Parts: sequence; C-alpha cells; structure tokens
Amino acid sequence: MKRRVFLAGALTALAAISSAQAQDYPTRNITMIVPFAAGGPTDVIARIVSGHMEQTLGKPIIIENVVGAGGTTASTRAAKAAPDGYTLITGHMGTHAASVPLYPNLAYHPSKDFEPVGLIAGTPILILGRKDFPPKDLKEFVAYVKANTDKLNVAHAGVGSVSYTSCQLLNAVLDIKPTGVPFNGTGPAMNALVGGQVDYMCDQIVNAVPQIQGGTIKAYAIATPERNPSLPNVPTTKEAGLPAFQAQAWNAIFAPKGTPAPIVAKLNAALSKALDDEGVRKRLLELGSVIPSPAERTPAALGALVTSEIAKWTPVLKPVTN
Ligand code: MLT
Repeated sequence: MKRRVFLAGALTALAAISSAQAQDYPTRNITMIVPFAAGGPTDVIARIVSGHMEQTLGKPIIIENVVGAGGTTASTRAAKAAPDGYTLITGHMGTHAASVPLYPNLAYHPSKDFEPVGLIAGTPILILGRKDFPPKDLKEFVAYVKANTDKLNVAHAGVGSVSYTSCQLLNAVLDIKPTGVPFNGTGPAMNALVGGQVDYMCDQIVNAVPQIQGGTIKAYAIATPERNPSLPNVPTTKEAGLPAFQAQAWNAIFAPKGTPAPIVAKLNAALSKALDDEGVRKRLLELGSVIPSPAERTPAALGALVTSEIAKWTPVLKPVTN
C-alpha cells in the first residue's frame, strides 16, 4: 500500500516537473538534425522554417547536418535523443517511410519512436539530366536510358533517400537497372550533375529550381499531375508521355518519442506561424514547394501521413541485402 502511494506521488511530481519544463520551454538552444548534407533540399527547407521558428520560440535553432545511410544514421540518433524538445529532426518521405521496407533491421520505427510535430512542405520530384545529356525531351530520355542502361550513372543520396526511392520507382516503370552513385545528399549529387560526372537523377524540386533556371542542368519532366508555378515550362510526366511515373516527397519535423505534448504543441504552433509568414511562404514557393494547409500541419495529420506512406512504399520497395 505504502509503495503504491509512493509511486503515485512520484508520478505526480514527475508530471509537475514535466509540465513546468514545458511551460518554460525553450530555455536554451534547440538542435535541428538534418539527415543530409548542407545545401540540399532538406537542409534548405529546414533552414527556412527554423529561421522563423526561432524568432517565435525565443531561442536559436542550431542546424546539425548528420549524414550517412540515406538519412537513417541521423534518424537513429534523433530517435535515441532525450525527449525534452531540445533535439528535433527534419525528416522526410525517405527517412520516415521508405526506409522501413528498405532496411529490415532499421534501428528506429518512424511511427513508434517519434512524436510527429508537423509537415513543412510537399516537394514534387523531377527527372533531371546533366546539361549535355543527349536526350532532348522525356520521350527521347526513355528511349535513351533503355538503350544505354549499362553505361549510365544515376546520382542519389543513399539507400532510403527520396532521390534513391523515386528513381527506383522510375527504374521499375522503365524496367531498367542503371548504376547508382550514392552521395551524402542531393546537394553534392547536384554538384556532380552540374559538373557532368553523373548522367541523371530524380530530385526534389527545391534543389533543382535554381539550376534549371540557370540552365546548368536539363529538366525532363515533373512527376506530379500539374505543372509547378516555379517551373512553368517543365511538362508533367503525363504531358510528356510517362504518366505511370508520379512522385512527390514531403519534409516534416519530428521529436523523439515521449517529448511532452505541450512542447510538441509549442513547436507545432511555431511551425504553423512560420508557414503563414509572407517571407517564408515566398521563399518556399519560389523553390517550388507545396505549403500544407492548416489542417495538414497538425501532429495528428503528420502521424497519419507517416502511416499511410509506410503502407504505400512497403509493397513497392525491396529490402537492401548488401
Ligand atoms: C537532401 O537533402 O539531400 C535530400 O533530401 C536527399 C534525398 O532524400 O534525396
């Protein structure tokens, strides 16, 4: 009996401490882990929203790029961090969905080991080629990659990344097996494409808009039902003759499982405020991102998205065995 009273008292005291912590939160710098190299789409998106969120929260958000294994190294680290709101991760469709079927021994589960904070942006996928890649349009691209698959190098950001996953889908649609060249993110992969060291890649729009506008790479098509306002001259895959290839990624903030709900709510409110800010919206839209509606930004909506995306990718992707 005494033991039960003691336990109940201890639990009440713990709840009081955690609610006081949540009220004061944040009292120090917050670390935002980005699971890919600096300068890539995840990094750019994380920096845009964190820059506004830290004004709302009153403490700096420090970006830490932790690379490796298609974003799963960083996600493992974030899942194991103290659940106190001071370590967050900007994850995406790869780290928090596609990684599940690709890595049978994944050290974290996106649904079970994280508290969803909120969706930042949708990021349509484009098929991109080096500037002097011979095909002129998507029809020629399809014929060319089918005829030359053994000689081609496709850049990606590691097994489990969005670029890997979406080009796996493209390979399946075209029934080809080109050689994959992994990088620590599509920031460095894009440099290799611009430099002509790789032939093509499937990348999120955020990384591609400045390069396409600058004429340093070729854009064959965008894999969404509609064209994107930031790239009005790039046809959809449907318009260009490959309707079976449809792909859009997303980026979102997650906290380790057990982060107190009031802290998650504070973070979510700061994220939503950032997404309503005119300057933030302009930067995200110029880079082609799709800004979620208020209903799509809630932790519950993100939790549901993760569940549905794991279910969507599980039958499509084969586990990596080597
Ligand atoms: C990145 O930031 O480098 C990308 O999100 C990588 C990817 O998933 O393709």
